[in-house]
Amino acid sequence: MIKNVLDGKDEYCFEIGDNVEVLKTLPDNSIDCIITSPPYWKQRIYEDYDGELENIIGSEDTPEQYVENLMKVIRELKRVLKDEGTFWLNIGDKFINKCLMGMPWRVALQMQQEGWILRSDIIWDQMKGTQSCRDRMRDIYEHVFQFVKKPKYYFDADAIRIIPEKDAYEKDGHIISATGVSGKKYFKQIEISKVLSEEEKANALNALNETLEEMSKGEVVDFRMTIRGEQRTYHGESQKLSGRAKELNEKGYFIIKMRKKGFLPSDIWRIVPEDTWRKDAHCAVFPEELLKNPILSTCPIGGIVLDPFSGTGSTIHAAVSLKRKGIGIDLSTQYTEIAKKRLNPNQRT
Ligand SMILES: C[S@@+](CC[C@H](N)C(=O)[O-])C[C@H]1O[C@@H](n2cnc3c(N)ncnc32)[C@H](O)[C@@H]1O
Repeated sequence: MIKNVLDGKDEYCFEIGDNVEVLKTLPDNSIDCIITSPPYWKQRIYEDYDGELENIIGSEDTPEQYVENLMKVIRELKRVLKDEGTFWLNIGDKFINKCLMGMPWRVALQMQQEGWILRSDIIWDQMKGTQSCRDRMRDIYEHVFQFVKKPKYYFDADAIRIIPEKDAYEKDGHIISATGVSGKKYFKQIEISKVLSEEEKANALNALNETLEEMSKGEVVDFRMTIRGEQRTYHGESQKLSGRAKELNEKGYFIIKMRKKGFLPSDIWRIVPEDTWRKDAHCAVFPEELLKNPILSTCPIGGIVLDPFSGTGSTIHAAVSLKRKGIGIDLSTQYTEIAKKRLNPNQRT
């Protein structure tokens, strides 16, 4: 029962029904995080809907109808999501008459129109793809969009940092970075520079010494320095475009440091889809690895994760394993039974 999860009495629940109708029973601002993958447009035929076939999203005649049907769900999601909450939307595309329809972006742009802030477009590299087409590249990725309601939202960066595998080390009394940078080359370049002023040289030397100090204390494991007139820069010269270009212009140098406490994952995720090895489900199942970072970073411990197209319950399973609560909604009794069994393997069917 949804109420029991909201009241903290139950860890999770699954509701069978049309998500727009079920969502109407949830209060405003009650959900910390939403993660979902709706049926893609004209992609699959789902089975066993107890006569609810007309509510199945994905079988619409036109892309516009698909976007509008999905938006009916998404408008309810916006209402139930807390102001500091995040909505992760995984959505696939479709070719019609050889033309890629851009379905993920049609939905994303409509969401922007309706006030959502698009924070990330994560490319889920599925590391395998069909070979069926001979006149274009293999399809290998899907989008996972990260949407928020407000510019300030809950995000626990420390929960998902990637800790560098290698540390800086000492050699012959000198500190060397994880990738072998000692700073010797930079000292020389600053010293002989004809474009830096004396003041800029002194500041650059100070910053370099401070970085080496941070490395010997173990706070920084690696670094790279860019000095005006020495290193090639890969960003535009325009200061409007790049903060680094501005720093280079104003100070004569900048330093990029890799800190021991780690760095955030990139927006390309290489994860093999789960349905290659789950045999009990016939729908596109989320791999649990894909759910980990969204849950850890955007749902506090004890908070509630909602999946309005919960299928076989992957999102709810991952949420509960990570000490969050979960609410799943799906039209299919069959998939919901699989979901319940995953959460409670001893349950009798
Ligand atoms: C891509 S699958 C989701 C799979 C899920 N992520 C998992 O890991 O198993 C999409 C699901 O949306 C459900 N669905 C389609 N239309 C729906 C609606 N109007 N209300 C609720 N669920 C719906 C389907 O039954 C299907 O299980």
